Amino acid sequence: MSEQYRFVVVANRLPVDEVVGADGERAWTRSPGGLVSALHPTVRARRGAWIGWAGGTGDAPEPFELDGMRLYPVGLSSEEVDYYYEGESNATIWPLYHDAVETPAFHRHWREAYRRVNQRFADAAAELAAPGATVWVHDYQLQLVPAMLRARRPDLRIGFFLHIPFPPVELFMQLPWRTQVLRGLLGADLVGFQRPGGAENFLRLTRTLLGLEPEGDHVVVDGRTVTARAFPISIDVAEMERLAADPRIRQRAAELSEELGGRRRLLLGVDRLDYTKGIEHRLKAYRELLAEGRLSAKDVVLVQVATPSRLRVAQYRQLRERVEREVGRINGEYGEVGLAPVHYLFRAYDREELLALYLAADVMLVTPLRDGMNLVAKEYVAARTDHTGALVLSEFTGAAAELPEAFGVNPHDVDGLKEAFVQALEVPDDERRARMRRMREQVCAHDVTRWAREFLEALGERDPAVPGPR
Ligand code: ADP
Ligand code: G6P
Repeated sequence: MSEQYRFVVVANRLPVDEVVGADGERAWTRSPGGLVSALHPTVRARRGAWIGWAGGTGDAPEPFELDGMRLYPVGLSSEEVDYYYEGESNATIWPLYHDAVETPAFHRHWREAYRRVNQRFADAAAELAAPGATVWVHDYQLQLVPAMLRARRPDLRIGFFLHIPFPPVELFMQLPWRTQVLRGLLGADLVGFQRPGGAENFLRLTRTLLGLEPEGDHVVVDGRTVTARAFPISIDVAEMERLAADPRIRQRAAELSEELGGRRRLLLGVDRLDYTKGIEHRLKAYRELLAEGRLSAKDVVLVQVATPSRLRVAQYRQLRERVEREVGRINGEYGEVGLAPVHYLFRAYDREELLALYLAADVMLVTPLRDGMNLVAKEYVAARTDHTGALVLSEFTGAAAELPEAFGVNPHDVDGLKEAFVQALEVPDDERRARMRRMREQVCAHDVTRWAREFLEALGERDPAVPGPR
């Protein structure tokens, strides 16, 4: 590779996935999840390089340009997809870091694949980074990359950001190779978390596992200072506002409301189909409200968008079955011909259709059991430029700390969930507006551009517009 870059992002996912259609035609689609939503505007603005997996198996596609970004695909074999992506990343680390809401599995061959793939990402970054460049590594799939990259390229500024929660010390200690993971992260100059508690847990672990002496927000390791701090991630507010003002999208929102039954009020859930999102808890609360006659399918409708995710992992397949059974049960018991209480949509949407749904929804339901941030909550708030709409928000999301005016819930408390749904539907107009106005002020003042700037400034990146090696 001859070209080198002064700003390089390393993440498991590229912003697009390569999909092969039934006719063998290859095409690119936007990748799922909050990481891609957040990083896309940041990398585009800096004309940086993005190293990531393109979603398939076998040899990586050739590097290509997209939207002013240079994308460098990393290839994974089908065994590596099984062991590194579905195994170690999504059946060990993902559940463990989300409070073990599903039981993590531990396998040595998964771990070995994780190490091997992390080395491949680190090698790609070492080749692409110009002397003194800034390399920003992302998320739980790549925790060994910072140390591997530093070993090859001590000249680089290396940042790491974890998009999901960093667990309490007792949970992290379950990882059989906990010391290697911690040492991997300590290869960075700056380790960023969604919440201050994550940074505190991380620094505490350096004492427990390595006998280091953290001071304030940093720790000295091998003569280098590593800083650990919270940088709550956010969304591209300008994009949301632009889409929310688009007459075609407003028209589509009006059509959706009409198609859903005109005067029926719309409750909306938008999530990857993931057991951390509390979709089952949400459906149960809704069913009980219908059963008790506190809500009726004549007056309300729930639209649940469930983006397909990680479906080869057993826990995700089982969740899908349980959710679909519950949706069928609710519609069977409480629906009438032409009047379904739940519309369940198992697919990815483009941003326009998603925005139309946000605009049509009277109440947004965000009820995760644990979530690093939750960008859907912030997107909904940003889209409601006229200060209408209400947000029900789990206290176990990172977003809850920034949005105290939402209707806060503990999703494990079904009665509390039911109360919150009813309150959000019935809140007087002026209170609804006051709550939404304050939430919008918070989200608009802290958008993703500011998040990236604050992280990169703390990392010591100089003005990315100045050309040449530093
Ligand atoms: P996670 O990263 O765990 O998936 P977040 O709520 O933080 O959860 O981010 C989800 C992102 O994916 C948001 O930007 C949201 O707009 C997008 N998204 C979720 N579901 C869909 C869908 N069905 N179609 C298109 N985009 C979606
Ligand atoms: C979350 C994770 C991301 C991940 C995304 C989608 O947002 O933090 O790292 O990319 O979910 O999951 P997937 O497994 O499809 O990449």
